[in-house]
Amino acid sequence: MEIHLLTPADRDWVRRKIIETWGAETVVVHQTVYHPAELPGFIAEAEGEIAGLLTYHLEGEACEIVTLDTWRTGLGVGTALIETVKQAAGREKCRRLWLVTTNDNLPALRFYQKRGFVIAAVHVNSIEKDRRLKPEIPLTGMDGIPIRDEIELEMML
Ligand SMILES: CC(C)(COP(=O)(O)OP(=O)(O)OC[C@H]1O[C@@H](n2cnc3c(N)ncnc32)[C@H](O)[C@@H]1OP(=O)(O)O)[C@@H](O)C(=O)NCCC(=O)NCCS
Repeated sequence: MEIHLLTPADRDWVRRKIIETWGAETVVVHQTVYHPAELPGFIAEAEGEIAGLLTYHLEGEACEIVTLDTWRTGLGVGTALIETVKQAAGREKCRRLWLVTTNDNLPALRFYQKRGFVIAAVHVNSIEKDRRLKPEIPLTGMDGIPIRDEIELEMML
């Protein structure tokens, strides 16, 4: 597997992929609108094909993972991207690596907690506010679970 930094040449592809995966070119988390195609990030390639994408946002001493998607699950792509962003955040002197996921995303909650992240906050019913900024956020998510809360996970570096 190879991981490389997102470059300006990747931006159009990232935009298309985010629309395909998240329903619009924006991602809204904790009432903040992000344009992942404009953010720094990493692409993972496996056997010549794009297998994963992670974008992040730096603010002060914190690094927020804004999106993480893998298209070949269970191969270690997600883990490798987390390791890569952890190193990048360390180089930027960040003290906190964090992200927000939704209450329905049980695979993500499992994935992150097994990789050292801990739940830092639960923002009850906060998706209602996000939906005002991005009406494309579905009402129902994984396994038919209503999408309602944002769960903040963090790792101190
Ligand atoms: C959550 C997500 C990012 C995980 O990515 P992934 O590439 O499947 O992650 P990994 O392959 O590193 O790890 C997944 C599992 O596969 C296992 N695995 C890792 N390498 C493996 C290998 N070479 N062979 C078999 N299994 C392997 C891991 O042990 C892990 O299982 P565990 O959680 O029991 O430890 C991915 O499922 C995804 O894109 N989900 C949809 C989008 C999303 O929800 N994103 C996160 C919210 S922001």
